[in-house]
Amino acid sequence: MTQAGIVVAASGTGRSLSYLIEKKSLLYRVSGVISSNKAAKANQIAEKYNLPLFIDSFNSKSTTASPNLLLWLKRLKPQWLVLAGFIKPMPTIFSGLEYLSSRIINIHPSLLPKFGGKNMFGLNVHKSVITAKDSVTGASIHYVNEKYDDGRIISQITCPVKPDDCPESLAKRVFQCERKIYPRTIEDLIKGILPLKDKQIYIYNENKKL
Ligand code: GRF
Repeated sequence: MTQAGIVVAASGTGRSLSYLIEKKSLLYRVSGVISSNKAAKANQIAEKYNLPLFIDSFNSKSTTASPNLLLWLKRLKPQWLVLAGFIKPMPTIFSGLEYLSSRIINIHPSLLPKFGGKNMFGLNVHKSVITAKDSVTGASIHYVNEKYDDGRIISQITCPVKPDDCPESLAKRVFQCERKIYPRTIEDLIKGILPLKDKQIYIYNENKKL
């Protein structure tokens, strides 16, 4: 089986970009990186792995991809557009690459639809989970549409919120779950095992080796 090319979009540390690359999947390869920030550490990771890098502020309110982004994507023709710590709105209309609109996914560090939406990123999410006194949290992978964290949910994994958790400790635990399920979900999408029928959400087992 040939590997599917995926483009990863990041805004910050690029920790997710790293684990997606380091997975060395037989089913996908990261073929390019989109960054919304000139200073993002993710850019250095792209350079380290010699990956084509597209940088733009993504400040446009338009949901249509800019001509420059389109040109760049048309060269790579990725199978999937994978958001990984990308905090700007991603355009969803790609003239000439229409298939891509339904192949944009994101990972969010909560059990959506809880704790999603604008400004729900980073520690804000985990602070809100602790304030709500929830005993279980997790991560969700969902399709991307024009609203933040709103597209159909594909898969989730749960993990406990411990009584002595602070936002940082909870963030660490959730991130460990994320790194298990994101590469796996991408592979399952490529294999066609996901998404499940009838909008069902696939729940990964936190304790099972993935
Ligand atoms: C993760 O918590 C993910 O759920 C969210 O961004 C965080 C990763 O960002 N979308 P990064 O890879 O550390 O930049």
